[in-house]
Amino acid sequence: MMFQTDITRMFGIKYPIVVGTMAHLSCAEMVAAASNAGALGVLSSATFLTGEAFRNEVKKVKDLTDRPFAVNLNLFPSMKPIDNMEYLEIIADEGIKIIETSGNKAPEEIAKKAKEHGILMIHKCVGVRYALKAQSIGAAVVTVVGYENGGATGTLDITTLCLVPRVVDALNIPVIGGGGVADGRGFLALLALGAHGVIMGTPFLVAEECPIHRNLKEALIRATELDTMIVMRGIKNSHRVWTNEASKKVAELERQQAGIEDIIHAASGERVQKMYRNGDVNAGIISCGQGVGLIKKIRPLKEIIEEIVFQADELRRHLVAS
Ligand SMILES: Cc1cc2nc3c(=O)[nH]c(=O)nc-3n(C[C@H](O)[C@H](O)[C@H](O)COP(=O)(O)O)c2cc1C
Repeated sequence: MMFQTDITRMFGIKYPIVVGTMAHLSCAEMVAAASNAGALGVLSSATFLTGEAFRNEVKKVKDLTDRPFAVNLNLFPSMKPIDNMEYLEIIADEGIKIIETSGNKAPEEIAKKAKEHGILMIHKCVGVRYALKAQSIGAAVVTVVGYENGGATGTLDITTLCLVPRVVDALNIPVIGGGGVADGRGFLALLALGAHGVIMGTPFLVAEECPIHRNLKEALIRATELDTMIVMRGIKNSHRVWTNEASKKVAELERQQAGIEDIIHAASGERVQKMYRNGDVNAGIISCGQGVGLIKKIRPLKEIIEEIVFQADELRRHLVAS
């Protein structure tokens, strides 16, 4: 077996790859496709606004795969907050063994309850001090993503190349690293930096199973590493997103020091749905990392993963032989 690490052994997965959770996209089909491909799929619980809807989606994943998967609990501020402690009980009740928390603060209450239920907690963050805090409250694994990453970037702006080895050196639990990884070269580089696993989100936006309109996938394939920007920094919710009319509009509102409501409204829900479902590529904003410059075609998620692992293995042999 290729690339066995503490993470593959701890989670019982084939490859040390996490298909990063994506709000509104990491629903049952996508999560099951990731886990069936040998990676760890992560269900986005905050996408489901009631406990009942969430439980149904968990059951759906269980129908579609018998491989391990995780559930993300969102700690970021949200327009439609859900009760994470209620969702944690559902997770325990459904026999899910891995959760991932992501947000501004390491979640002590969740960590304690997860431990009582025998659930492994991954905490995802963007800096050494947050990683240390997560370890101190009982996280089994810490995920760190560098400034290149798609989605929340925090405020520290540390690149993957520096952040991952710093965190690996500082912690005594396994570390998953990511941010800007989009092929076998990046994957192998992250393992060389000491990560035990690699998280990727952006490359899977163009997976066939990803529930966004084909127009948007094609636009992302045409995009380069220059086509992302950071928005919502002013309202302490900085995100790296794809540069389009909607993200430029959000940036413009920020420059004009518009109110938080106007900014959130411009960045929010319905518009995103219009883009995701109807293919109107300028309607809303979509998180996207700089690795978008490396993605080349729409294909099944399994193929993306297998090519990453194959390319990394070839490269490893080549490096050893040279
Ligand atoms: C469209 C999109 C939506 C995302 N939504 C979330 C989310 O809701 N919660 C979260 O913790 N991370 C979210 N992420 C971050 C990913 O889980 C992952 O950490 C990140 O994509 C890794 O960096 P990369 O995009 O450079 O591969 C999202 C990423 C993307 C591209």
